[in-house]
Amino acid sequence: MNTEAGVREERAYFLSVIKTFKSYRDQSLKKIHSKERCVVSLPNDHKTWLEKYNADLQKLKEGIEKNSNFIPLVLEHAYTMFDNVYSNMDIIQKDDEVPLLADGLDKVQSVFKQLMRDWSSLGAAERKQCYEPIIEEIIANYPEDKFDRSQIQILVPGAGLGRLAFEIASRGFKCQGNEFNLFMLIVSFYVLNLCQNVDEYEIYPWIHQYCNNISVEDQMLTARFPDVKPMPSPKGNFSMTAGDFLEVYTNNDEWHCVATCFFIDCAPNVVQFIETIYDILKPGGLWINLGPLLYHYSDMRNEKSIEPSFKVLCDVIKKVGFEMEKCSTGIKTKYCQNPLSMLQYEYDSVFFVCRKPVDIIMDS
Ligand SMILES: C[S@@+](CC[C@H](N)C(=O)[O-])C[C@H]1O[C@@H](n2cnc3c(N)ncnc32)[C@H](O)[C@@H]1O
Repeated sequence: MNTEAGVREERAYFLSVIKTFKSYRDQSLKKIHSKERCVVSLPNDHKTWLEKYNADLQKLKEGIEKNSNFIPLVLEHAYTMFDNVYSNMDIIQKDDEVPLLADGLDKVQSVFKQLMRDWSSLGAAERKQCYEPIIEEIIANYPEDKFDRSQIQILVPGAGLGRLAFEIASRGFKCQGNEFNLFMLIVSFYVLNLCQNVDEYEIYPWIHQYCNNISVEDQMLTARFPDVKPMPSPKGNFSMTAGDFLEVYTNNDEWHCVATCFFIDCAPNVVQFIETIYDILKPGGLWINLGPLLYHYSDMRNEKSIEPSFKVLCDVIKKVGFEMEKCSTGIKTKYCQNPLSMLQYEYDSVFFVCRKPVDIIMDS
């Protein structure tokens, strides 16, 4: 978005994200206050019997305060993370003119859960299920004795907080993560560039999940991060880009490998993702994917969304031009799951490896 109006719109959105981050504490406490008011309105007997519940609400407030403490640290660096594009902005626009984002609180809460998944030892089991098969496939395809891994370019679109891309780069590859969610980008910048010590911070990833808890302690399960020291950067070349995958990556035949994890279902039209992945891969390049088909736009009103089954997708993948080298279903995977919750979601994900043929036969 290079027009003046576009830049203004981007900046306004950035300021809304910052303001939403800042509102996390008050908005979260407000929810607890409404539960407290609800208890106050109950008959006296109920109030007495719910004393422990009231005490639990006080504990949850402490957790929210602790989560909130992390936010100013992150925001301090947000203005300068995009090469100073936003550094003078706070002067331009008054804070009370900046709107909060409607779904912003959910986005901040998701970032806390993603911190658990990507950067805590509590998330190690999920990362083993989701990231390891992808990493193993990459390693098997580019053995160190045959390839100079520093010359192998791997792209991870929908990188979240960057752990998969970081792990790939740690194995010597030139790896780039791409992400369009500013909440994720701001926090990943902090973790990847500014966290100094292992397990430096403690957060409550599931403090906002009020249902399916055996005890309040389960809701208050903590995660420490980062479980490894992201600085200095891995021996390979590692970078993150901001923006929509479809808009940022327009150069054909550029990447040796594209690795997608819990990503392809994030498109309103998954076929567009598949086509773009095909186009940007070099001939002979690999696409490795793991994840479910939880089509993100499926239930959104006013969104055009298609939700092809995996069988239909396999046909599309071949028609786009890929050769499918491996494909398995039923890969048990979890996503930001509280291990203590009464509700356990587990996906039977698909895992596949596709290759863009070296000799591309063009349709006449
Ligand atoms: C379900 S999350 C998966 C994150 C990470 N790969 C993982 O497995 O934990 C999908 C991510 O893709 C990002 N995303 C969705 N559509 C995107 C797009 N068009 N361009 C860049 N990122 C996108 C979302 O913001 C989100 O962080």
